[in-house]
Amino acid sequence: MEELAGKVAVVTGAASGIGLALTRTFLGDGMKVVMADIEAPALEAAIAGLDEGAEVEPFVCDVREEAQVEALRDRAVERFGGVHVVCNNAGVAGGGPIWTATREDWDWVLGVNLYGVINGVRAFTPMLIEQGEGHIVNTASIAGMISMPWGGTYNVSKHGVVTLSETLWADLQLAGATNVGVSVLCPGWVQTRIHESARNRPATGGDRPEPTEEQQLMMAHIGGLIAEGLNPLQVAAMVRDAVREQRFYILTHPHWNPLLEDRFGRILAGELPGNGALPGMGEAAEEG
Ligand SMILES: NC(=O)c1ccc[n+]([C@@H]2O[C@H](COP(=O)([O-])OP(=O)(O)OC[C@H]3O[C@@H](n4cnc5c(N)ncnc54)[C@H](O)[C@@H]3O)[C@@H](O)[C@H]2O)c1
Repeated sequence: MEELAGKVAVVTGAASGIGLALTRTFLGDGMKVVMADIEAPALEAAIAGLDEGAEVEPFVCDVREEAQVEALRDRAVERFGGVHVVCNNAGVAGGGPIWTATREDWDWVLGVNLYGVINGVRAFTPMLIEQGEGHIVNTASIAGMISMPWGGTYNVSKHGVVTLSETLWADLQLAGATNVGVSVLCPGWVQTRIHESARNRPATGGDRPEPTEEQQLMMAHIGGLIAEGLNPLQVAAMVRDAVREQRFYILTHPHWNPLLEDRFGRILAGELPGNGALPGMGEAAEEG
């Protein structure tokens, strides 16, 4: 979709980080944006920080809930008359050895990161096909391409988002809906609040064990790597360009591509998996 001015974007997770940067970038291109997020005060604060007169519509919703994502679509159509670009971007992260993740950990991370995207794809794709134009951007991660240690629930959710997006693209081609584009965003470290995701974790009534000292150390270390990551606005510009140029894979850290080559090389050579560690993560294991 080359011309973005005057078109409408829906962005989930828009109150912070990459979602807020996408909002700013799309507004800069003359688009109208429906900003969806679970955190109402953060959404309000984010909107207060935008330029006066920005054409935005806030919508508080939990992307885990199908009916709330359908209501998001309906609100976007009601307010702006249609939707052209959909960014299924809301996400959360948890960490620890995969066998220690509780059922609630799995439900929360898969609920937001994977079912959030599933709900977005189900709610919006038929209307984009019908209007013969549109683009869906699903936020995965480099963790959707490799299997980093301690990222079990997150890795599974993000690998799911990559294959969901590839399948969506293939199904659209098969259906002849070639004017509906798809991209999957696979960032490395980006300066956001993802390492503070627990702020949005709903209380489920179950016992939540305090993070171990080892887990706290790893989270603090990852917080440091994220603080040195890309500016979210750089990532948002890559997304905008991919939408315009119909590019599918958005890899924000091309110098990490050897990690992907290593994985597929091992698969094809019948070797054991690598340790999946991202640059900088090994040092945390040594500190721990
Ligand atoms: N920051 C990174 O280094 C990095 C790397 C790879 C992928 N990502 C992905 O980027 C996406 C955006 O995250 P971010 O890094 O900007 O983090 P962030 O924490 O700054 O922003 C995430 C937003 O999602 C919202 N959210 C959480 N649960 C929600 C729910 N159930 N319904 C609706 N909104 C919800 C949060 O309130 C928050 O505003 C996520 O999918 C994340 O996994 C981030």
